[in-house]
Amino acid sequence: MTLRRILITRGVFPEVVEALAQRFEVERNDQDTPWPPEELALRLRGKAGAMATVMDRFDESILAQCPDLKVISNIAVGYNNIDVPAATRRGIRVTNTPGVLDETTADLTWALLMAAARRIAEGDAHVRAGDWKIAFGVQYFLGADIHRATLGIIGMGRIGQAIARRASGFDMRVLYNNRSRLPEADEKRLNATRVERDELLARSDFVVVMAPYSPATHHMIGAAEIAKMKPTAILVNSARGGVVDDAALIAALQSGRIAGAGLDVFEGEPKVNPGYLGLRNAVLTPHIGSASRATRVVMCNTAATNMTAVLEGREPPNPVN
Ligand code: DGY
Repeated sequence: MTLRRILITRGVFPEVVEALAQRFEVERNDQDTPWPPEELALRLRGKAGAMATVMDRFDESILAQCPDLKVISNIAVGYNNIDVPAATRRGIRVTNTPGVLDETTADLTWALLMAAARRIAEGDAHVRAGDWKIAFGVQYFLGADIHRATLGIIGMGRIGQAIARRASGFDMRVLYNNRSRLPEADEKRLNATRVERDELLARSDFVVVMAPYSPATHHMIGAAEIAKMKPTAILVNSARGGVVDDAALIAALQSGRIAGAGLDVFEGEPKVNPGYLGLRNAVLTPHIGSASRATRVVMCNTAATNMTAVLEGREPPNPVN
């Protein structure tokens, strides 16, 4: 029996490859470097399935070159790397990995919030550089209190709610902005109040953006929104690059319009706007929101299950289209 052929676009865990190799003929990229689009298209020829990351773009021009493709299984909850309507028109199923990375991404979001509030990265660099000359300064490395502050969350889906849950340990007020209101019981449990976006921006000490990227959310936080924030506020984005206007945020951080930022995602990543690099009030991480070993293994296994289901003629557990 000839096995169906699949492509894994990145170095995933060996046990995941081994499990897939029992059912499919697997071609894979062992590296963490994405293939350029021309090479991706070439390698996709004759493949029925692709297990991919958010850095692999599946647009109309790539899909047009892959007549055998039946499923794109993203190892991610986000799928803005895929032209889903184009895939649907071609009868290609798209799947993702919702749910399994919520807690890990919420952890990282908090790590960024706390690092920015208490100037952790800046302090670490200071010590390593041998610049720590005053043993204890009364006004040395002053940061912002997190406890009893107001946390504003824009986008109150599963990850937003996981972030809100952690705020109770800090005795914080939680404001949120979301298209739909949470059930009253959930609002009570999270001590969260739904407000308009402008009110959230004006009242929050920490603004966390947790909205997926789409044309509708492009630059959802730009100069006009930042202008509504408190000068002491800190902005955290661990959702998607492009939801925040990087140029506007850099200008605001340079001028002291807001106090700081914690960022895991950037426009055009892995390239980072050089304006960020010299800013001591920005903490920057390389899109590692879901990057714990345990969570990444579950994400890969979920993506493998989705792909296998489609190729074996079953409904995948996590369909996007
Ligand atoms: C996701 O799951 O969408 C994360 O951003 C990883 O790409």
